[in-house]
Amino acid sequence: MSKHFLAISDFSKGEILEIFDLTEDLKSKQKNDEPHKLLEGKTLAMIFAKPSARTRVSFEVGMFQLGGHALYLGPNDIQIGQRESVGDISQVLSRYVDIIMARLFGHEDILELAKHATVPIVNGLTDLLHPCQIMADLFTIYEKKGRRDNLKIAYLGDGNNVTNSWINIASKIPMTLSLAIPEGYDPDDEILKSAMQSGISEIQIFRSPAEAVQNADVIYTDVWASMGQEAEAETRKIAFRNFQVNADLLKSAAADCLVMHCLPAHRGDEITNEVIDGPHSIVFDEAENRLHVQKAIMVKLFE
Ligand code: CP
Ligand code: NVA
Repeated sequence: MSKHFLAISDFSKGEILEIFDLTEDLKSKQKNDEPHKLLEGKTLAMIFAKPSARTRVSFEVGMFQLGGHALYLGPNDIQIGQRESVGDISQVLSRYVDIIMARLFGHEDILELAKHATVPIVNGLTDLLHPCQIMADLFTIYEKKGRRDNLKIAYLGDGNNVTNSWINIASKIPMTLSLAIPEGYDPDDEILKSAMQSGISEIQIFRSPAEAVQNADVIYTDVWASMGQEAEAETRKIAFRNFQVNADLLKSAAADCLVMHCLPAHRGDEITNEVIDGPHSIVFDEAENRLHVQKAIMVKLFE
């Protein structure tokens, strides 16, 4: 297994499924109150250049449950890349802690962090990717559907970090990935090309949400303006106005389709209250599984 967890595309299908197996085991131990202190005495540094609820809490709680300790370094603490270089902070933290999770703006910064680190680096979101999220998402889909084959995932909205990580996982694990994305907001070209060339999944971009969700097993959406794009929020609201996940759209999907959102949600924009609070929605199970899957990722990185 790769030393770091930076992108899902760095892992084989077998390694991804091994992480899911361990997730299942750790989740069941957690639910049954069975000890699983597999990282006793280890320390995790969590660098956040952007805000977070789920990532921060699930990593901190996860490390505690594994018998380790987590340290929160917020945007004003180490000021990565501003107060000192990414390379220097990477070398310094490597002397103190056993593993580093980072949520940064530029993806190149997490690559730089990994280049200089002597301990594993976990990507807790960059402008390009959100790999821990999509690992938790696919694990949740398998859990809820009880099957792994012939799944059709329809993603609606911005071609962002979440979309890019969906495309990355589709380059390793077979699925139908239908993306409904307005023109001008497409996902990363290289990531898309490489996934399409892999031939593992059927990946298609639609401009019409209704077409993309035909018989979908899962409808997935994310905010229209990601962290760092706040100034574009109003323009994006107009560009994405026909890409809302609402009750009408659900009629075209499979009757038992699941609705997912990585959260935080902008209720009334990309998803209606009726749908996110409705019977198809599994957004809170999805959020919970961040905890279990990330514990498995951390344990695997120490193996
Ligand atoms: N989904 C997710 O990563 O949430 P946070 O931004 O709250 O961590
Ligand atoms: N695309 C969103 C995901 C938040 C978890 C963002 O980057 O803000």
